[in-house]
Amino acid sequence: MAKVLTEYPKKHQLVGSTQYSLPMRSPEIALPSVGALPSTAAGVAQQYGLGTFELGNRRYLGGKSKLLEFIQTEMEKALGKTPDSLFDVFAGTGVVGYHFAAQEIPVISNDLLQHNYFGLQTFMGPQSIDLKQLAEKIVHLQNLSAKKNYFSEHFGGNFFSDSNAKKIGVMRDEIEIIASNLREKAALVTSLIYAADRVANTVGHYDAFHRGQDIQTPIELKLPNILQLKSNANEAFCQDSITLAPQVKAEVAYLDPPYNSRQYSDAYHLLENLAAWEKPEVHGVAKKMDRSHLKSDFCGKAAPKTFAELISKLDTKLIMVSYNNTSESLNSRSNAAIPDEEIILSLKSRGKVSVKEVAFNGFTAGKTKKREHSERLFICKVKD
Ligand SMILES: C[S@@+](CC[C@H](N)C(=O)[O-])C[C@H]1O[C@@H](n2cnc3c(N)ncnc32)[C@H](O)[C@@H]1O
Repeated sequence: MAKVLTEYPKKHQLVGSTQYSLPMRSPEIALPSVGALPSTAAGVAQQYGLGTFELGNRRYLGGKSKLLEFIQTEMEKALGKTPDSLFDVFAGTGVVGYHFAAQEIPVISNDLLQHNYFGLQTFMGPQSIDLKQLAEKIVHLQNLSAKKNYFSEHFGGNFFSDSNAKKIGVMRDEIEIIASNLREKAALVTSLIYAADRVANTVGHYDAFHRGQDIQTPIELKLPNILQLKSNANEAFCQDSITLAPQVKAEVAYLDPPYNSRQYSDAYHLLENLAAWEKPEVHGVAKKMDRSHLKSDFCGKAAPKTFAELISKLDTKLIMVSYNNTSESLNSRSNAAIPDEEIILSLKSRGKVSVKEVAFNGFTAGKTKKREHSERLFICKVKD
């Protein structure tokens, strides 16, 4: 039976100049075992007077939170059983992988963007996390005084109220000082990102901000409701899927690539800036940083060829690909990057292919009008 690799890439390379060298499975990092983490997040949050948030409490373009049952049902039909392990190749928020991780199925999740990676590490990271220490640090961040900084200089009075922008920048600086390991840093940054996203003057992405709408509600950090899994065999990566794919072995690969020419690094540049915290120069009305290192080949002209290459590199028994039909959209930018025929052709090179479809009204944000919208699952049972 296919199992998750026990040897993982030595370096968990972050796109951009920041790199973490993480000996994830080395003996000095204590992994949680049965009963090792007795406190529940809800209990700790109550003790510290904090609210909690779930991994799925975030709007995200192409997010699959409403399709989890559909995905699991079709996966189990195709396999004839519950999966042993899952590779969530384009994880985004991570809701799909997390749905399975919560059932104690080992999940390897990956996303090109660092702000997503921090969310994956928070909820599915292999390092243990001390929830009380995390709560204490969240309370400490929440109590900091707001003052002028990089973030308020660029994002105050546009994407955020001036006072929220001052507080966000101060809190982000402090995280660099107080985080004691990668998972704790990920959890603190993720808490900040989810809280910031709730008080942003946007429609859910950062291509533009609402002029005249200035949300004054003060930012409120919450504790991530991290599940106490019996055995944590999950891993999270921040790599180009093409590079990571040959290094992962799992029973099922779930692929949810971008559907069109719209780059996620454009739509979420601000959250990515906040996560990476390298304080780059920003340009234009939307205050975007240089994102050339974050461009995805799954969005442009190279998408069909890149997709074919990825499919050829996967070492799994089942490949499931989500791809919606936004080519029906009235917004030309939403035209599908990979035609259905190319998806099927690539998958056929690996085994028998079927297509399942469900009507769906997902989160699009902005003014895109759609004639119709369905989500499709392309399923390939890989030949031995
Ligand atoms: C449709 S979204 C995935 C949504 C996710 N399933 C969810 O429910 O939140 C596509 C994701 O692919 C990521 N991505 C784009 N190109 C990538 C690449 N080359 N390697 C890894 N991830 C990539 C984007 O950052 C984005 O988060």
